[in-house]
Amino acid sequence: MSKNILEIKDIDKVYKNDFEALKKVSLSIHDGEIFALLGPNGAGKTTLIGIICGLVNASSGTVTVDGHDHIIQYRKARSVIGLVPQELYLDPFLTVTQTLTIARGLYGKQHSNALLKKTLEDLSLWDKKDNKVQELSGGMKRRVLIGKALMNEPKILFLDEPTAGVDVELRHSMWELVATLKSRGTTIILTTHYIEEAQDMADRIGIIQDGEIKIVEEKSVLMSKLGSKKLIIGLEHACDTIPPSITSDKLVLSDNGRTLTYTYKTGGKTGITELLSKLKAANISVHDISTQETSLEEIFVDLTHDNSTQK
Ligand SMILES: Nc1ncnc2c1ncn2[C@@H]1O[C@H](COP(=O)(O)OP(=O)(O)OP(=O)(O)O)[C@@H](O)[C@H]1O
Ligand SMILES: [Mg+2]
Repeated sequence: MSKNILEIKDIDKVYKNDFEALKKVSLSIHDGEIFALLGPNGAGKTTLIGIICGLVNASSGTVTVDGHDHIIQYRKARSVIGLVPQELYLDPFLTVTQTLTIARGLYGKQHSNALLKKTLEDLSLWDKKDNKVQELSGGMKRRVLIGKALMNEPKILFLDEPTAGVDVELRHSMWELVATLKSRGTTIILTTHYIEEAQDMADRIGIIQDGEIKIVEEKSVLMSKLGSKKLIIGLEHACDTIPPSITSDKLVLSDNGRTLTYTYKTGGKTGITELLSKLKAANISVHDISTQETSLEEIFVDLTHDNSTQK
């Protein structure tokens, strides 16, 4: 998977109200991979997808989709893209079959009964094919949206928050669908707020915050970095400094010397037992102990200070 199917270079987006939604975003997507763009509300995920798909104009920068410039060769670029938008835009009075058939027509492609049937079956919507969209549940409507995008037989499929408002069972069936599409060679780019979602589905993960790509990393590498926790140790008596016998870059003294915070990796050796016995040996009495997950914010700070990252 060395070939890049999507090249995004130095994309800036300033909205009319002078808000800078994207700042020099560069990103390469490998052919056939599942890439998760992870970031908080307002980070710029939907804006970036909108630019790639030609729905939003970039202020500067270039996008190359399967070798085609997304503006100069927009027809060719769009012919390989499928977009499943974050918002549910569907005509409630059309049937599922009509919705997908019209979508196929809008892509300028010839109707295919075989494709329609396969798509509806893949999405577990075959038994709903003659139902009107308004008769479907929210999760089914989301699958119809995916179906519309698949009617373009896209090489690259964008899923903008595919599991927002979707129950656990459906979420898993969505993940299975994504895996099936990948096995057929489709490149998938999905956005999410959830680390767990990125973790379960993606080959690589990009983290975006305040319009900037903070990191792009293989999932396995990133997950080992994300898997850190904090042990908060309340001390019986305030300490002026951390005794040399236990000094470590993983240990921070705060709260006027009453709290020690120890950062450790989950899975494998944590070093907690060793730390506690060293505290005891140094005659430092522990008042209470609690653990804390590393927040996304802290992960961002942590990762952006790490030189081993690549963009
Ligand atoms: N048409 C617009 N005009 C002005 N500002 C906009 C417009 N669209 C988006 N923005 C702003 O750009 C920023 C990024 O929005 P975007 O929708 O790309 O974020 P997002 O990462 O997709 O967020 P979410 O996770 O909530 O979907 C936000 O601050 C948003 O208010
Ligand atoms: Mg969004």
